[in-house]
Amino acid sequence: MSVTALSPSDNVVEYLAAHERKSMLRFITCGSVDDGKSTLIGRLLYDSKLLYDDQISALESDTRKHGTQGEKIDFALLVDGLAAEREQGITIDVAYRFFSTEKRKFIVADTPGHEQYTRNMATGASTADLAVILIDARKGVLTQTRRHSFIVSLLGIRHVVLAVNKMDLVDYSESTFDRIEADYRAFARDLGFQSITAIPMSALEGVNITRKSRETPWHQGSALLPYLETIKVRTSLAEKPFRLPVQWVNRPNLDFRGFSGTVASGIVKPGDEIVVLPSAKRSKVKSIVTMDGDLDEARPDMAVTLTLEDEIDISRGDIICAGKAPAEQTDQFAAHLLWMAEDKLLPGRQYLLKTANRVIPATVTELKHKINVNTLEHMSGKTLELNEVGFCNFNLAQPVAFDAYKDNRRTGAFILIDRRTNATVGAGMIDFSLRRAQNVHWQDLDVNKNARASAKHQRPCVLWFTGLSGSGKSTVANLVEKRLHDLGRHTYTLDGDNVRHGLNKDLGFTDADRVENIRRVGETAKLMVDAGIIVLVSFISPFQSERRMARELVEDGEFIEVFISTPLEVCEQRDVKGLYAKARRGEIKNFTGIDSAYETPANAEIDLDTSEIPATDAADRIVEYLKENGYLEA
Ligand code: ADX
Repeated sequence: MSVTALSPSDNVVEYLAAHERKSMLRFITCGSVDDGKSTLIGRLLYDSKLLYDDQISALESDTRKHGTQGEKIDFALLVDGLAAEREQGITIDVAYRFFSTEKRKFIVADTPGHEQYTRNMATGASTADLAVILIDARKGVLTQTRRHSFIVSLLGIRHVVLAVNKMDLVDYSESTFDRIEADYRAFARDLGFQSITAIPMSALEGVNITRKSRETPWHQGSALLPYLETIKVRTSLAEKPFRLPVQWVNRPNLDFRGFSGTVASGIVKPGDEIVVLPSAKRSKVKSIVTMDGDLDEARPDMAVTLTLEDEIDISRGDIICAGKAPAEQTDQFAAHLLWMAEDKLLPGRQYLLKTANRVIPATVTELKHKINVNTLEHMSGKTLELNEVGFCNFNLAQPVAFDAYKDNRRTGAFILIDRRTNATVGAGMIDFSLRRAQNVHWQDLDVNKNARASAKHQRPCVLWFTGLSGSGKSTVANLVEKRLHDLGRHTYTLDGDNVRHGLNKDLGFTDADRVENIRRVGETAKLMVDAGIIVLVSFISPFQSERRMARELVEDGEFIEVFISTPLEVCEQRDVKGLYAKARRGEIKNFTGIDSAYETPANAEIDLDTSEIPATDAADRIVEYLKENGYLEA
């Protein structure tokens, strides 16, 4: 026996090492079951011999039970994993499948093709480098083909394989194939794809899937799998400028300070010049530390800790960038937004915007246009609904460092989170920073809030009254203001009905208009506090998110939420303005408590029910609260 012979375990090690060295292609398949998408994926897995015998026998027995292909194996069953999907005959979720050939490893995202699953497709596309867009040769380029192509281009995919499937049903007609390819190229001209490769195939018959088949002698290109094995996709992340979003500052003792995170893009080496955003401080990399010792370089996706030559202040949420090619920084930008929630987008509402390593409150200040995902037409609109795409201006509470999404999908993407439910409601792709953000600066004034407040001998604050129409907000606020006035305080009352006669005359009672109503009055209250005034705000203000926004506009302790918790039945019985009766008769739409929601405050400083105590007592209690908490000390 030769001493150099490999033991079986060496073979395994060698095999695994070779496997490790293979490159990885992430792709997404777009199409519906009708186009043969699941059959195509099943065929790829089957023909690349990735199924075990027991899976094949299960498949054969499933084919007998559910199959739609007579006696042939129904490959669609292999990937239509969920029982519910089998019964409905549609695919409803994003499924990631891993397979590998001798040349390459693959992760395929399999997403449903119907319009109501646009968000699923976007999720799958966001990490893919290539899209296989299926077309039924009998039908050609359809509305859904356009939608799929738009979504994948929006999510930054630059390579498309146009899989013209079911060629067996059109007798492998070259002219049919050519016409479909030409149609598609004409449509996709403006979508920014770097490559479009059309392949005639029959997933069912296994034609042009793993190798070129005799049925299409006229086809010049390769079969699908060989193409996927060899195509060179994107400039790799390693070739982009260096970005390290700092996840935490590692400071075990006074002698060591490292900045830890996962490299988003680029390569960094000791000695490289870096710049930290947002501070714009510069330094050089001293060392790259890992659990396994120091490294000569760090590449994308590696979790590392950098130490720097200079002592500069860096915190979690900062981004360490290549010194020569730093990211941009802004608190206002334009971005494409895909809406992913049942509740529609409310411009003016504060959401949490989450980037690679930061979470910042942000609002959509303007929906510039919506995009019809089927026709790519721009449309005007006030809101985005589930699965709709819009181009929006954003305003952030603090600046973020970013790259345009087209340049870097990692530092140019964000998600939006609803502050109340914590649900992800949108996915965004940053286009550009708004120039006006750079040209408007804060003007410091010599006479400030403190000066104005002390001239009035008072501590300014907002008394925010919330509650149903007819609950007694304005009655109580009026009494409180009278008492404060008698005590010589400088006050002002912003009342919903009154402000709606002027500043907010253009607003109605849809959710979107109420959000804007409260945003404006919140900003006005803030200005009045800055003027040194005690402001009484009496608005239904039905939504928690906007009350929180109003609270966060002023400083801690300056916002006192007064929930007038009189029950709906009592308010309706009082019906001072006759509006409840009208709402019940259907003459007023979106009436709070009837067909529009009121979200009860969870942490109001004061809670008073005017069906239990008279308004005068309620007012006394509020004045008492102000006294006890030092608001009336001059
Ligand atoms: S809010 O919901 O946007 O905060 P706001 O306090 O400004 O409401 O205005 C409420 C007042 O508008 C009510 O007191 C009532 O007089 C009047 N109103 C008219 N239509 C409606 C409606 N659909 N829902 C609630 N209030 C309405």
